[in-house]
Amino acid sequence: MDFALTDEQELIRRTAREFTDREVIPAAKVNSRNHHFDLDLVRKIADQGYLGAIIPKEYGGAGLDYQTYGIVVEEVGRGDSAMRTVISVQTSLVCSTILKFGTEEQKQKYLPRLCSGEMLGCFGLTEPDTGSDAANQKTRATKVDGGWRINGAKMWISLGNHAGVALVFAQTDPEKKHKGVACFLVDTDQDGFQPSPIEGKMGLWGSDTAQIALDDVFAPDDAVLGEVGQGFKVAMTALDSGRYSVAAGCVGICQGCLEESVKYAKEREQFGRPIASFQLVQQMIANMRVKTDAARLLVMRAGYLKDMGLPNTTETSIAKYFATEASVWCANEAIQVHGGAGYVDDHIVERHFRDVRVTTLYEGTSQIQQLIIGRAETGINALA
Ligand code: CAA
Repeated sequence: MDFALTDEQELIRRTAREFTDREVIPAAKVNSRNHHFDLDLVRKIADQGYLGAIIPKEYGGAGLDYQTYGIVVEEVGRGDSAMRTVISVQTSLVCSTILKFGTEEQKQKYLPRLCSGEMLGCFGLTEPDTGSDAANQKTRATKVDGGWRINGAKMWISLGNHAGVALVFAQTDPEKKHKGVACFLVDTDQDGFQPSPIEGKMGLWGSDTAQIALDDVFAPDDAVLGEVGQGFKVAMTALDSGRYSVAAGCVGICQGCLEESVKYAKEREQFGRPIASFQLVQQMIANMRVKTDAARLLVMRAGYLKDMGLPNTTETSIAKYFATEASVWCANEAIQVHGGAGYVDDHIVERHFRDVRVTTLYEGTSQIQQLIIGRAETGINALA
């Protein structure tokens, strides 16, 4: 067992850390205040190679393994969850899914443009009435000459207002239940594809989140990703990658909250000495460190299994569950260490506190992760 990073991984971490400190963090504060989805910053992230991190170089990606991808995502997540979400959706949910299930033509058509950031992609699984029960797709795909007509609605879709291609999941035959679901690579540049921004979010103000009406959207036969009836498996496979990425980003939030809390506690004086010298403050810091380490190790294990090509759904859910809950906890504790100062956006922990809350909800709630883990342990499907 080797916990040390390779020289290359150390370099990639340092580069991602410097990039995050220089480009991401200063912009994130302004973007969050202005509720601005910063496409210039997305372009810079793409130029770093982060949008196609795990995609082979022959398709325009960076060709990294999962463990190294996790390092990059952690560093960006330390700075800004809105931009980390862009990486997670584009790289894990969209690119890695096209890589795994796409035909050679589909890979050539989309991956180079997605990896370079010329085009964004989104993942259209969730619907207004279909969240955790993802197999229960209300969106319908009907066979027509040369392709499919898709009607329905999608909800909470990251990058949905800016995507050039959407992975749209739809039911082709309700009697077949999850075995009737198909995934379509939908061209968003058509009248029936109607995204609109979701306003009033608690956090992630610098990210793009859409609801999408699908009104007779057309997808040609060669736009089916995988096979008709394989769509649910496509979605679950995508989420195995997406959940890993969310978990890695949350390790970054834990780490960021820890670092900021240590720094502030050493600067801030009360009762004539730095608050870092008080046992109760050290207790908060110690617990943040423990949770950060534990989350990172769980993410490393899931990444290792992915790199080895071994089954990893349960370990990915463990990492996602633990890291997201740990980051919510760390952000809350970090505010406590900062006191009133942590309640305004002069300190990054204020933004982390708002942005982190969604991570135990999206890409599968903590309860769904626990049911996946519980099923693996007991062999009993609580949802059957
Ligand atoms: N990989 C491959 N196949 C898988 C799989 C996986 N990880 N998990 C399940 N499958 C397959 C099963 O093998 C099974 O296949 P067969 O029919 O051939 O036997 C099939 O899928 C059905 O599996 P289940 O019986 O486990 O399905 P289920 O209906 O009980 O659902 C669930 C399981 C875990 C609850 C699943 O529905 C789920 O993960 N729900 C949460 C959905 C979710 O995470 N949504 C977030 C959307 S993305 C997002 O947040 C938006 C964004 O933009 C960020």
